[in-house]
Amino acid sequence: MSAEPTVRTDAFTFYALATLSFVESSVPEFVSTLNVMYADDPEMRDWLRETWLREEIEHGRLARTYIARTWPEFDWQPAYEAFLVRYKPLCDVEYMRPSLALEALSRCVIETETAMIYRCLEAEMTDPELKAMMRKLSSEEVGHYRYFRKTFDRYNAAERHGVIRRLHTIVKRSEMVRDEDISIAFEPLSDAAFWRGPKPFKEMTWQEFLDVSGDMMKRRMPVEAATRMMFKPLETGVWWRDKPTRALLSFMVKRQYPQLAGSDA
Ligand SMILES: [Fe+2]
Ligand SMILES: [Fe+2]
Repeated sequence: MSAEPTVRTDAFTFYALATLSFVESSVPEFVSTLNVMYADDPEMRDWLRETWLREEIEHGRLARTYIARTWPEFDWQPAYEAFLVRYKPLCDVEYMRPSLALEALSRCVIETETAMIYRCLEAEMTDPELKAMMRKLSSEEVGHYRYFRKTFDRYNAAERHGVIRRLHTIVKRSEMVRDEDISIAFEPLSDAAFWRGPKPFKEMTWQEFLDVSGDMMKRRMPVEAATRMMFKPLETGVWWRDKPTRALLSFMVKRQYPQLAGSDA
């Protein structure tokens, strides 16, 4: 099936698919790090290898295949290698969260954000093939979220991190998704060295890409699902029902996630 002709000239679709293809394809780097961290947890290691790794690699492959067909002049492999040079050191164990519960929590943040980005892209895309791809990706990210959420609960029963620590972990990891993961993936995309001919669209700067993505997220964000997934791990016992606490958290959270403004976080 060939892509719609309009997709080829749409810069935003290219940058969105290429950044996701890089970040998804780099998952083996994280699996080795997480295997070291969760060395005493064979069930987790099995799941990482048999489910998580397989599905994330497939996400990268699907996006890459679409890119190769739609923008054949883009040299994916060397551009990906340029991304890995900068990204790989950040996958090291020293950059992970300081405990097994908090690392699982930060994975919940990444899975939530990727699920939501894919839900928004599904709504935004006009090509039925891309829509179907985004639907598959977002539903699998929700599955990953569920597993990491269970892992967080399991470890936090012993580690007992309070709500401020949890919120801090959520906010910090969320900033990294935008400021590190996606921005590093964006960097090589416009580099002429990775194009075998002129680009069929007008290049976007990082700021332009952020503006267009932010606008899309505002219009398309499935607020209820995002709120539920992102903040569920903050719930602990009775205090959660306490109104002033909820109001304070809601304020902090909405400052961090303006897309959720208007929701009942
Ligand atoms: Fe994925
Ligand atoms: Fe995932």
